Amino acid sequence: CGIVGIIGVRDVEEQLLRGLEKLEYRGYDSAGIAVFGSEGVNVFKEKGRIAALREAVAPDASASLGIGHTRWATHGAPSRRNAHPHRSAGGRFTIVHNGVIENYAELKRTMLRNVSFQSDTDTEVVAHLVESLANRGLGVEAAFRTALSMLRGSYAIAMLDEADPGVIYAAKQKSPLLIGVGDGFAGIASDAMAMLHLTNEFIEIMDGETVTVTREGAVLKDAQGKEVRRTSFVAKLNVAELEKGPYAHYMMKEMDEQPGAIRRLLAEYVDEDGRVSIPEDVRAAAREADRIYIVACGTSYHAGLVGKQLLESVAGIKAEAHVASEFLYNPPLLSERPLFVFISQSGETADSRGVLVRIRELGHKTLTITNVPGSTLSREADYTLHTFAGPEIAVASTKAYTTQIGVLAVFACDCARARGVEVAFDVARELSLAANAMEVVINEKEKMESLVWEYLSSSRNCFFIGRAMDYYICLEGALKLKEVSYIQAEGFAGGELKHGTIALIEEGTPVVAVSTQRAVKHSIRSNAQEVIARGANVCMISIEGLEEAGDALVLPKVHEALAPLIAAVPLQFFAYYAALYRGCDVDKPRNLAKSVTVE
Ligand code: G6P
Repeated sequence: CGIVGIIGVRDVEEQLLRGLEKLEYRGYDSAGIAVFGSEGVNVFKEKGRIAALREAVAPDASASLGIGHTRWATHGAPSRRNAHPHRSAGGRFTIVHNGVIENYAELKRTMLRNVSFQSDTDTEVVAHLVESLANRGLGVEAAFRTALSMLRGSYAIAMLDEADPGVIYAAKQKSPLLIGVGDGFAGIASDAMAMLHLTNEFIEIMDGETVTVTREGAVLKDAQGKEVRRTSFVAKLNVAELEKGPYAHYMMKEMDEQPGAIRRLLAEYVDEDGRVSIPEDVRAAAREADRIYIVACGTSYHAGLVGKQLLESVAGIKAEAHVASEFLYNPPLLSERPLFVFISQSGETADSRGVLVRIRELGHKTLTITNVPGSTLSREADYTLHTFAGPEIAVASTKAYTTQIGVLAVFACDCARARGVEVAFDVARELSLAANAMEVVINEKEKMESLVWEYLSSSRNCFFIGRAMDYYICLEGALKLKEVSYIQAEGFAGGELKHGTIALIEEGTPVVAVSTQRAVKHSIRSNAQEVIARGANVCMISIEGLEEAGDALVLPKVHEALAPLIAAVPLQFFAYYAALYRGCDVDKPRNLAKSVTVE
C-alpha cells in the first residue's frame, strides 16, 4: 500500500490524487482520500484504481490539507468498505495505514469491546484506539503515541483530527515513510515519487518516531516524545523517467531500456583502467567473508540464484541464495564470517527487511543491491550497490532483474580479484557485448510475438525447462508469464521434470526449453525429446554455437556466464505478448503490487 499526506497547497485533492497515482505500483485494489474542507473532514473512497477514485472526488476549493491511500489488501477483501481512510467511531480521527497490525483482533476484544466496526481491516482499530484515549482526556499527540505503543506489527500511518484543521499526524514502524519539505507546505509519503511533483527535498523518519506536520514544516519526535532533528536530503529521481512516453505499456518501455541500463551500470562500475570496480569497503567485506548469503524475494531472488552461481563459479566464493520470507523463520546454520547480500529492486520489501534487521542484530555485515539507493534496505545495510536501471514502474520486473544480474557479475568479478582468483574473461567487455546482443533480441519483437501465437495462444499452462544456469532463467520466465498473463507456468530443472511433473504433459502442452550452457547441451535436448515423445509442443531457445536445426529462436552469442542476461529477454517478451493476447492489464496484473511492504 502507499500513503501520502499534504498540507499547505491549493488543489489539495488534485495533489493527493497525483501522489497516489505515483504510488499505485504499491497496490491498486482500492483507494481513498480524506480532505479537510469548509465542513470538516470529507472522505472519498472507491474500489479499483485511482482513476475510479478521481471520478468520485468532489473538489472543495477551501481545502488545504488531506491524506490519501492506495491499497493492496491484507486484512479484508478489496472493496469500498475496506478502502482507507478509516474513521473513528465518534468521527473525530481519520486514518490511512500501510502495514499490518498483528494484534488487531486482541485489541478489538480488549480495548475496543463496545465499538462497532465499519470494515474488516486491521487499520480501523488504530482510529478507535486514538479516539478512546483522547476521550479519556489525553491530548492528541499523547493519545496517538499511546495508541502506537499498543500496536504490534508494522505501520506507516497518517491521521487527521477533525478538531484541528492545521495538522497531519504521522508515524512509522517497519513500513516506509518520508517527510516532504517545501516552502509554505509540507507532506508525508511512502516514497519520494508521490511528492516529486511538489518537492525533491525529504527527511527520513526512523522506526518508532512520530511526526506532526503543519504548513510551517514537520516536527519529528522519538517514541518518548523527545524532539529529534535530522537534516533533509535531495531525491535524485528524474520525473521525466517516470513517464511512459510513446509506449503503450511501461513493461515494454522497460524491456526496451535494458541494453541502455546495462551500459549505464557499466559506465558507473568501470574505472579509468577499463576494469570493473566496486567501492573498496564492499570489496574488503567480500574478501573477509567465508560465505555469502544472498537474500531476496520474487524476481530478485531469481537474480540471486544467478548471482550465487556467478560467485561460486567465477570467484570461487561459497554462496547461497535464500527466499527472504523462509530465511526469517527457518534460517540455515551460518558460517563464521558471513556477508549478507540483499537484492531488492525497490529496497522496501518487508520480507527482506525483516531478515536485514535480524542479521544486523547478529552483528554481521550487510550489502544491499538495489535500484533505489535511498530506500530502507539501502539505508539500513552497511553497504549499497546501485543497479542504475532507472525507475521501474511496471509491476513485472524486467530491467531491474537484468541489471541486478549485471551488478552481481561485476561484484563476483571484483570479489575474485580481491581474493586473488583469476577471472578468465573481461567482464566489462563481455557485459558490453551482452548489451549489444540484448538489443538484437529486442529488435526481434515480431518473431517473439509470433512464437507466442504459435505456442501459447490457446494454452492454460506452460512449462519452462533448463539446466544449470538455464534452470534459474526458467524459474524467472515462468514467474513472468504467470504474473502478467495468468497462464499457469512452472520452471523446472530439465532433469527433474521426469520425476513426477511429466505426468502433466499432454498432447499440445507448451514447453519452453532453454539451452545456453555448453555442459548440459546434450542433456537438455534429451529432456526436450522426453516431453516431445509425450505430445509436448516444444519451443526451443538456444544460443549461437549450441543451436540445432528447428530451434524456435537462436540467441546471439554472449559469454556463457552472462547468458542469463540474454536468455531472460525473450521470456519477458513471451509474457508480455501472452498478456496482451489475453487482454490482461500488462502493467498492473491482478492481485499483485510492485513493492510489498507487509510480511
Ligand atoms: C513483489 C513484486 C515482484 C518482486 C518482489 C520483490 O512481489 O510483485 O515483482 O520481484 O516483490 O521486490 P523487490 O523490490 O524486493 O525486488
